[in-house]
Amino acid sequence: MGFTTKDFGPDFKWGVSTAAYQIEGASTLDGKGASIWDVFANTKGKTYQNQHANTSCDFYHHYAQDIALMSIMNIPNFRFSISWSRIMPEGTGKVNYKGIDFYNKVIDFCLQLGIEPWITLYHWDLPYELEKKGGWANREIVNWFSDYVHACITAFGSRVKHWMVLNEPVVFTGAGYFLGIHAPGRKGLNSFLAATHHAALCKAEGGRILRSMRSDLCIGTTFNASYIQPYSMSKQDELAAKRVDALVNKLFVEPLVGLGYPVKDLPLLQRLEQFVKSGDEQRLAFDMDFIGVQNYTREIVAASLYKPLIWATVVKANKRGVETTLMNWEVYPECIYHVLHRFNSYKPKALVVTENGAAYEDVVIGGEVADTKRKQYLEDHISQVARAKKEGINVTGYFVWSFTDNFEWAEGYRPRFGLVHVNFETQQRIVKQSGKWYSKLITETALVHLADAERYA
Ligand code: FCB
Repeated sequence: MGFTTKDFGPDFKWGVSTAAYQIEGASTLDGKGASIWDVFANTKGKTYQNQHANTSCDFYHHYAQDIALMSIMNIPNFRFSISWSRIMPEGTGKVNYKGIDFYNKVIDFCLQLGIEPWITLYHWDLPYELEKKGGWANREIVNWFSDYVHACITAFGSRVKHWMVLNEPVVFTGAGYFLGIHAPGRKGLNSFLAATHHAALCKAEGGRILRSMRSDLCIGTTFNASYIQPYSMSKQDELAAKRVDALVNKLFVEPLVGLGYPVKDLPLLQRLEQFVKSGDEQRLAFDMDFIGVQNYTREIVAASLYKPLIWATVVKANKRGVETTLMNWEVYPECIYHVLHRFNSYKPKALVVTENGAAYEDVVIGGEVADTKRKQYLEDHISQVARAKKEGINVTGYFVWSFTDNFEWAEGYRPRFGLVHVNFETQQRIVKQSGKWYSKLITETALVHLADAERYA
């Protein structure tokens, strides 16, 4: 292993990540309203083999077993998201107390077993009723979101310390409002730019609400982060890589840290101005307690005349003959080291790797899943996190995506990301070899620090 259990220190937060729509199922139960993902995935032709997450791994009914399993595996931190339409079926107004009850049970059971709950407020499942009113493209969403954040912090704030406002905003605005390949399936530059500005406002506003309601919270938000490199040394490819980098890595974090939108690197963003009102620039900034960095791969970018908005194209991993995961994402462990350095340049109070993981073709043989490639992927990426940490980067946690196999958005159930295998017919869980390895790593680290503490006591 390229690291030792001591490299991370006793306070390092090891964990696993999930998201409501991907795991919960129970899509119409106990008063839950529809979300844009319920509607999108149940519309023909939108997802791999028309798969949806109406049941998925049914965390709604299996939460106790899953959290108990987490505890047996010694996983001390659990990141999950709240389904907005379970709490507020219409997106605003009436609160659904059965929805609150469900998350109360999840939180209380975590705490009972000594597991720290980490809540993501928004992981892509907007209430469908709000989409009917324009969704993220309607500026009113700042008020809708504020109401929802109030409801969550009021219900859970006394027991949950770690909060994340939005998950990967450029993915849900880009894939959902520009490319149309994710819910709600809208296409076009204007809806994307409007959604971008409103999501950026909500991200900071959400942070402010959390902090104003309670002073004892650790508040963050998460970003997809990719290491972007030019395809060749040519000036054109270098500039193309810079533009994609601005879109993928800078668009949301820079306004948050007070730098405004990266218009210089990507002039197209000037068109955001039509949605900006006076005073917005200050409202976009908020000093988060931590920045969540989510990294899976690197991207190689070439200039392209066929993509008129950005004049750049991503050269896919299968065209480059490199090792890939089932998502056709290149396996390139140093990327996580580079993105940690990159996000550290914004001088955050702390960085947490809130997602990292890999999808592979898993097979169950004799009740076991020998997912050696996933184990290797995790080990190599954790080594690179250790490398960054040794160089002084204040990275304080690492969360594997994901605890169990689940619904991978437009890709359906084909890519399995879990440390725990799920049979979606029987709901049986099997801890994969990678899960056993991760569990052992966490346990050994804890034991080493315990021994140290006793020695100096
Ligand atoms: C991230 C998402 C997460 C999951 C992983 C594979 O972009 O946040 O929900 O789908 O990718």
